[in-house]
Amino acid sequence: MGQGDNTMSEVREAVRLRYANVAKQLVVFNRPGSGPAGCCQADGPDCGCSGSYSAEALQEIGLTESVSLGCGNPTMLAELRPGETVLDLGSGAGLDVLLSARRVAPGGHAYGVDMTDEMLGLANGNKAKSGVTNASFLKGTIETIPLPDSTVDVVISNCVINLAEDKGAVIKEAFRVLRPGGRFAVADMVELEPLEPADKQALDKWAGCISGTIPISEYRNALVTAGFADVDFEIHATENMPGIDGKVGSAYIRARKPLM
Ligand SMILES: C[S@@+](CC[C@H](N)C(=O)[O-])C[C@H]1O[C@@H](n2cnc3c(N)ncnc32)[C@H](O)[C@@H]1O
Repeated sequence: MGQGDNTMSEVREAVRLRYANVAKQLVVFNRPGSGPAGCCQADGPDCGCSGSYSAEALQEIGLTESVSLGCGNPTMLAELRPGETVLDLGSGAGLDVLLSARRVAPGGHAYGVDMTDEMLGLANGNKAKSGVTNASFLKGTIETIPLPDSTVDVVISNCVINLAEDKGAVIKEAFRVLRPGGRFAVADMVELEPLEPADKQALDKWAGCISGTIPISEYRNALVTAGFADVDFEIHATENMPGIDGKVGSAYIRARKPLM
């Protein structure tokens, strides 16, 4: 399981606090007709990710895109099949887990891992509303995933890995839990041009998916070092907030754990 609160770093605690507060706001936002909460939250980047979920798929689970804090739709990337096991790193209010659970039925299961109790509460409430039974939300950190080795077919994640201080540890953990041949299908924010030092250091901007972003070359290197093959990055939107213009973008990231 994840580390206890007493060993949490300042950055991780800032992230946890932010998403505990966001979870409380999402209870209010999650009504028909309300817009998306935005990528990583209202004062975070506007990465053009709204509209990426099919209305039919959302209707099936009784949720709206307003509960998404993501920067893309990793369930679209993942090409999920019935019978597969899926894991979502930093599952938030549970949208991608519940959509994945539908896609891997019958016989499959979708797990979400999140460290924030308020988000886990919201996700379990959304699961109850959706009628989905083949999904579970686990408390833990994505640096120490609470699942055994080689038990997952697909790792997805939506706008979360940038929030981790040690991306290498997260990527190694994703590799560990994947079965040989397993897929990594992730939406995340990346640094496209160097940010100002002040922007790299601000805790609020870290929790808002700006400061913690890393260049594609560094991300790719972490994936290759962990053992992943067929690593691919596709930038699908850039961020337009003042001072950050074009320096941060939303990427779809694909990779595969080799068979041997
Ligand atoms: C930007 S939100 C994205 C939520 C969800 N993936 C979505 O697309 O709506 C980030 C989520 O990741 C969780 N999170 C951030 N860092 C984490 C970590 N190191 N371990 C576990 N969960 C983490 C937060 O609690 C929050 O729920």
